[in-house]
Amino acid sequence: MVSRVIPVSSFDLVIFGGTGDLARRKILPGLYRRFSAGQMPENSRIIGAARGDLDDDGYRKMVADAIKEFVPKDRQDKATIDGFIDHLSYVPIDARGDRGWKDLAKLVRKDVVQAFYFSVGPGLFGDLAERLHSFGIASEMSRIVVEKPFGRDLASAKSLNAVLAESFDESQIYRIDHYLGKETVQNLMAVRFANVLFEPLWNAQYIDHVQITVAETVSVEGRGAYYDKSGAMRDMVQNHLMQLLCLTAMEPPSMFEPDAVRDEKLKVIRALDPVPTTNIVRGQYGPDGDDLGYIDHSENPDSTTESFIAMKVDISNWRWKGTPFYLRTGKRLKARMSEIVIHFKETPHSIFEEDAGSHANVLTIRLQPDEGMDLRVTIKEPGPGGMRLVDVPLDMTFADALGPSAEDVPDAYERLIMDVIRGNQTLFMRGDEVEAAWAWTDPIIEEWQARNERPVNYEPGSSGPEDALMLLHRDGRKWGEVR
Ligand code: BG6
Repeated sequence: MVSRVIPVSSFDLVIFGGTGDLARRKILPGLYRRFSAGQMPENSRIIGAARGDLDDDGYRKMVADAIKEFVPKDRQDKATIDGFIDHLSYVPIDARGDRGWKDLAKLVRKDVVQAFYFSVGPGLFGDLAERLHSFGIASEMSRIVVEKPFGRDLASAKSLNAVLAESFDESQIYRIDHYLGKETVQNLMAVRFANVLFEPLWNAQYIDHVQITVAETVSVEGRGAYYDKSGAMRDMVQNHLMQLLCLTAMEPPSMFEPDAVRDEKLKVIRALDPVPTTNIVRGQYGPDGDDLGYIDHSENPDSTTESFIAMKVDISNWRWKGTPFYLRTGKRLKARMSEIVIHFKETPHSIFEEDAGSHANVLTIRLQPDEGMDLRVTIKEPGPGGMRLVDVPLDMTFADALGPSAEDVPDAYERLIMDVIRGNQTLFMRGDEVEAAWAWTDPIIEEWQARNERPVNYEPGSSGPEDALMLLHRDGRKWGEVR
């Protein structure tokens, strides 16, 4: 199979925070991989901008080291790394002062796409946006890329949106949620909207409930200070899980085109019911033997921040009324596993004897690891002895089904950065979408704060707190295994 790659035009990409963690781990390795795939036009340039006093050579060496550290060994090649770093330069800059801006203005070309990646804390967004204009660097061809956290509540998200809107049009602002760049997340849209099979059944009449799980094995070690102010709700649910829910629940957009898709996602967020605390379980991992607990990582012995959350979410619209979406995410769990599982209803009437068992179809969309899909269908167990039913998987692991092209799945960042250059906002969040997500999240968090309850403890390496299992048990349902 020949994979088709949509070409990009020449660009100047400025990475503010170009020496930071995200740049070294994700942005620059992602660009290297696109370069090695031949997708970076010859005269494109990447300009690192940060406070540190580096020169071009120092920056190139830093980036070469980052590639060696963060790109898989079998994707590294000395000649390609040398070719890539030739495209790099560096400008020491002061986001809040004048240092470096004139140099940057000289470097950035006006006749190519200009992308400015704000890989810095949101407190600097306004300063950067303003200086890009006052130093005459930004133009109508400019795009800016911002990262989460995009605010910590509705009020702060609104003021960030307002600050950016002073300098840039919404069509120039690319708000990254890297979950939207994951291969299987996009495949969810292909499965839903490029097949006739699923859409007629994709509603409350045929779907019993949906489970969305993003389980992680990592702790919050090393990010305790950030995480303690955030928690699973702000760090994962308001953005990543919300996006997965939206793509699962949205109406078919008329086109796979930025505003058509984002309009539909927004409608889903606005149709979410407020969630009563009785439908939420908050957990915090405890210590276990030599393993430190959340409290030790956060360094706040009284922290009531949740490292796990499970919740039942109802959507009040015609398609979904009566079909709950159960969301679950947590750190320090048994396995790293992200999936969306669609549990279909049983057949309205079984023509088989009672001991044939009751069965329902289940569609699992695996985001990571082993990206793929699995549809469980009911068939007859082979052999004599009457009609015994059994569920078997129709499994499609993309790497098996599609061969090497599926094994070389681009990292979410690679795809998203290239979409910025192409000027395609489909996989980026619009300002009103982010605000709507916070408007739904805020009352939930406010209620916790008012109650000041401690989250329930869970064992590190487990599937989360018992109470989370109960959340489904009481509805006669069961979570899929964290495996
Ligand atoms: C980030 C969160 O946005 O997503 C992290 O801040 C989390 O806490 C990460 O670990 C998960 O991303 P992925 O791609 O590893 O599932």
